[in-house]
Amino acid sequence: MKHLIDIKDFSTQELDALIRVAKDIMKHPENYAHKCAGKKLATLFFEPSTRTRLSFEAAMYELGGHVLGFSEADSSSAAKGESVADTARIVSCYADIIAMRHPKEGAPLVAAMNCPIPVINAGDGGHNHPTQTLTDLLSISVEKGRLDNMTIGLCGDLKFGRTVHSLIAAMSEYSGIKFVLISPEELKLPGYVKDILKSKNIPFEQTASLEESMPKLDILYMTRVQRERFFNEEDYLRLKNSYILTPQKLHNAKEDLCILHPLPRVNEISTAVDSDPRACYFKQALYGKYIRMALILKLLEVE
Ligand code: CP
Repeated sequence: MKHLIDIKDFSTQELDALIRVAKDIMKHPENYAHKCAGKKLATLFFEPSTRTRLSFEAAMYELGGHVLGFSEADSSSAAKGESVADTARIVSCYADIIAMRHPKEGAPLVAAMNCPIPVINAGDGGHNHPTQTLTDLLSISVEKGRLDNMTIGLCGDLKFGRTVHSLIAAMSEYSGIKFVLISPEELKLPGYVKDILKSKNIPFEQTASLEESMPKLDILYMTRVQRERFFNEEDYLRLKNSYILTPQKLHNAKEDLCILHPLPRVNEISTAVDSDPRACYFKQALYGKYIRMALILKLLEVE
C-alpha cells in the first residue's frame, strides 16, 4: 500500500504517469465518473483550507465516490486530546483513503504509520504540501508544454512556504532547470532545501530583487508571507508587503511567462494582474482537482 507524505515518495516516472492520467481526465471526464463508486475519502483537516479540501472532495465526487470528514480540529475528538495515530486508525474503519492537513510537521506520516489505508499529506505545518506540488507540475506541464529546460523564479516567503520546498524537490529531477530564489533576508530558503539543489548541481541564485529577476523567468511562482508560522506579529507586519506583483513590474517579463501562486493570496499579486493572459493561478486551482483525481485512482489502485 502506498501513501503520499512527501513528493519524493513518487519517482519521476510515477509523477509523469499521474500527469498523463490527469490530462486524460481533463479530456474525457465521463470515462472516470464511476471509477470510485462505493469508495470513501475522509478529509481530516486540522487547519483551514479552501482549495485543497474542496478540490479533494470535488475529485472524489467526480470519480463517483463519497466523502466524509471534518474541516477544523475543534469539531473532532482531537479537541478532547485524541492522538493523530488513534484518529487515523479509527477513521480507517469508516473510509478507504485519508487526506490529512495538520499544523504539526510529520502528523500525516504518523497517521500513515498507524492505519491500514492510504494517507495523503494535504499540508503539514511549514514542511511539505505534496499535492500542491502535483498541482504545480500539472499546471506547468499544461501551460508550458514541458517540465524541463526553464528558469523558475520563486518569490516571497521561501522559509515557511511549504509549497516551495516540495516544488523544488520535484522540479530538481528534470533536466535544464534553474531557480531564482527571490526573498527578503529573513525569509530565505532553509538550508536543508538548498542542500537538495547543491547535491544535484542545480544552478540557483538568491536575490531580493523581483524587478531584476523578471526578464529571465519562464515561471514566476509567487507565495504569501505565512503569517501563521511567524513567532511574532511585528516581524510579519514588517515583511508582509515585501513583494507585490503589479502590471508595471511585468513590463520586462517574457511574453510567455507563466505566473503561478498556490493561493490564497493576501496582497502579493495585485488584482490588476488577474486579467493578464500570463496569470495562471486560477487555472492552477482547477488543475488541482484533476491531479487529485489521478492521485486517488493511483492510491486506491483503481484501473
Ligand atoms: N493552496 C492551498 O493549499 O490552498 P488552501 O490552503 O486553501 O487549501
